[in-house]
Amino acid sequence: MDHLVQIKTSGKVLQTPCGYIIHGLEDVLIKVTSISDIDGERGLLWYRGYRIEDLARFSNYEEVSYLILHGRLPTRDELEMYKHRLASFRTLHPATVEVLKNLAAAHPMFALQAAIAVEGAHDVDNLRLMESFKVGRYVEAERELAFKIAEKLVAKLPTIVAYHYRLSRGLSLVEPKPDLSHAANFLYMFFGSVPQPLAARGVDLYLTLHADHEIPASTFTAHVVASTLSDMYSTVAAAVAALKGSLHGGANEMAVRNYLEMGSPSRAREVVEAATKPGGPKLMGVGHRVYKAYDPRALIFKEFAREYVAKFGDPKHLYAIAEAIEQEVLSHPYFQQRKLYPNVDFWSGIVFYYMGIPYEYFTSIFAMSRVVGWLAHVLEYWENNRIFRPRGCYIGPHDLRYVPLDQR
Ligand SMILES: CC(C)(COP(=O)(O)OP(=O)(O)OC[C@H]1O[C@@H](n2cnc3c(N)ncnc32)[C@H](O)[C@@H]1OP(=O)(O)O)[C@@H](O)C(=O)NCCC(=O)NCCS
Repeated sequence: MDHLVQIKTSGKVLQTPCGYIIHGLEDVLIKVTSISDIDGERGLLWYRGYRIEDLARFSNYEEVSYLILHGRLPTRDELEMYKHRLASFRTLHPATVEVLKNLAAAHPMFALQAAIAVEGAHDVDNLRLMESFKVGRYVEAERELAFKIAEKLVAKLPTIVAYHYRLSRGLSLVEPKPDLSHAANFLYMFFGSVPQPLAARGVDLYLTLHADHEIPASTFTAHVVASTLSDMYSTVAAAVAALKGSLHGGANEMAVRNYLEMGSPSRAREVVEAATKPGGPKLMGVGHRVYKAYDPRALIFKEFAREYVAKFGDPKHLYAIAEAIEQEVLSHPYFQQRKLYPNVDFWSGIVFYYMGIPYEYFTSIFAMSRVVGWLAHVLEYWENNRIFRPRGCYIGPHDLRYVPLDQR
């Protein structure tokens, strides 16, 4: 109750004839969770109790995705078996490859959504789980099957993204390489050669930093879809649709486009100033619904981006441009008053761009990581499922007289 009172006084509520509406569900709690936690004021993030800084420094995506999905860090044997399972799930159904061929010219996020749905239509495990849902509830006996499907989705998304890239460029498809890590195998399937260790480390770090983030729009979407007892592939396809928007995952693509368009750090002041004008373009990669401090993931990836350009150069001045924008943002009263800081999308695209990954693929790589968070949340929610069904405050007329078409 205190929480609601606090929300009502935060200025993010709309007063309506039916009472208060919490606009954009800001700060509304939808469930109890033990997956990830954010301290927005202090700029802190934990996965299952572990600080993101420690996981970024000491762990990797395989271990972190296991942690998020299964609730604890794996033993050495469990990790080996998990890696083995992921490697065995990487291949796609021929029908999915056909869809990717047909969508070779489309934005990768459209292709990802479609391919996930098609893969789900052909996964016998998914169909079996759907069958069990016919009784109208999540059957405990099928829990193991649901976790297996989650691992399959984690394994398959990189293949979908890499295959779409290769088909879009008329390149032959590269089979997954079982002995490579999740990140290195993705780059291998994408570019067709075993990646440099620093590139694989960059993708692994990015995947680790994006694996879960409490309940943003895409994770909420996953809950809504899964709460109807829809299948896990459809749930992920819907979450991908939510992630695609420029206010969410699409921001990393937009941020790099902006840096490229600017061309030089000297334009930073002008660009930042434009974003402060009423109706001006928002600065992509800046601001966050929960963080009112520097996003800890952005700080970690900034360090990596610095290391990367120090080794491979910054010919398009992208790091220099981002740093100039960052300085303007941090010192500008508009951003200070609103507590707007660079978020995770601010730095990540720079590294991908220099690896040679086209910017339209950035958000799909975000999805490759977040898929584990979406599914861990869904599996958590199914333990105590209740269909989402909010209400609207209707303010239109009632009982209008129907006028036949020829009398209008
Ligand atoms: C992330 C985001 C959607 C959060 O939105 P939100 O919690 O609804 O915050 P609001 O849109 O209410 O923003 C509060 C104020 O800051 C301003 N603001 C927020 N982000 C801004 C940005 N990136 N550039 C300029 N102004 C921004 C808003 O215009 C608003 O100003 P006002 O109070 O004068 O109306 C928003 O910060 C944004 O659009 N950022 C850019 C996209 C992005 O990087 N997304 C990735 C998020 S990880």
